[in-house]
Amino acid sequence: MKKIRKAVIPAAGFGTRFLPATKATPKEMMPIVDKPAIQYIVEEALQSGIEEILIISGHAKRAIEDHFDTNTDLELQLQRQGKTDLLNMVRSISEINIHYIRQKHMRGLGDAVLCARSFIDDEPFAVLLGDDIVYNETEPALKQMIHVYDKVGATVLGCQEVPKEKVSAYGIVKGQLTDDPDLLRVVDMIEKPSIEEAPSRFAALGRYILTPDVFEVLERVQPGKGNEIQLTDALKLMADREAVYAYNFKGRRYDTGNKLGYLKAVVEYALRRPDLGEDFRAYLQDLLKK
Ligand code: G1P
Repeated sequence: MKKIRKAVIPAAGFGTRFLPATKATPKEMMPIVDKPAIQYIVEEALQSGIEEILIISGHAKRAIEDHFDTNTDLELQLQRQGKTDLLNMVRSISEINIHYIRQKHMRGLGDAVLCARSFIDDEPFAVLLGDDIVYNETEPALKQMIHVYDKVGATVLGCQEVPKEKVSAYGIVKGQLTDDPDLLRVVDMIEKPSIEEAPSRFAALGRYILTPDVFEVLERVQPGKGNEIQLTDALKLMADREAVYAYNFKGRRYDTGNKLGYLKAVVEYALRRPDLGEDFRAYLQDLLKK
C-alpha cells in the first residue's frame, strides 16, 4: 500500500466572513496569537509525516507565498541584532517544501481539490482545510487518520459530532458501525443539510485522506450546494462503489471560519502559551469579575 506523502491545502476562498480584514490579506494569514492560521495547518501536516505540500491558492493570496519564502532583509536585520531565536524561527518557516497552484475560478472545494490532480498523480493523499484547526498535544489529527488509512487502505474522512443546530454548516455523514467504535463505514453523505434532512450529527471537519480515484469522480460530479462542485458529493458517489470511512479523530477542533470560533482559538491558544498564558488568564479572570 502506498504511503501518504503529499498534502493539499485549499486556500483560494475570498474569506468574505472576515471582511474587511480579508480585503487585501488572505484569511489564511489571520494570526492565532502570533502565527498565521495556515502555518498551524502546515505544521500539522509535517508532524504527521507529510513530505510535500500543495497550496491551492487564488487571487490576492501572495502573502501566503511570501510567508513561506525567505526574507533576506529581515534575516540580516535579526542577525545584526543578535536575535538568534527569531532568526532560526523565520528561517525554519522558509525551509518547508511548498508548491502552489492557482484555482482560477471559484467553483467550490471539489474543484479546488481537482486542481491538485497533476501534483498528486496516482497516490493517496491528504487534504487539510485551513478553517479547521485541531489541537492535540500528543498526536495530530492527520497522523491519527494516516494510522487508520494504513489499516483500512481506503478513503478516510476526519469527523466529529457537532451540535444539532450546526449540521447545516458541514458535510454530514450517515455511517454503518464497524468493529472499531471510532470508525464508521460511510453509506451516505449530505453537504450542509437542514436539521430535518441531516442523517446524523457526524460532520466532516476539514481532514481527509483520499485515494486518487476521487479525481475521476470529481470530473463527473455536477454542481451541488451553492452551485459549487462539492467534495462531499464526490465522496458520496465514491462510497456507493468502494469503501469510504469516517473516523472520529481526537482533539479540540476550532472552526476559525466563523468569528466566534476564531476568537475561541485565539483565546485558548494564548492560554496555552508558556510566555503568555499565566498573565492572560489573570487578565481574563479579572475582566470577568467586572
Ligand atoms: C467545507 C466542506 C464541508 C465540511 C467543512 C468543514 O465547507 O464543504 O463538507 O464539513 O468544510 O469545515 P466550508 O466550511 O468550506 O463551507
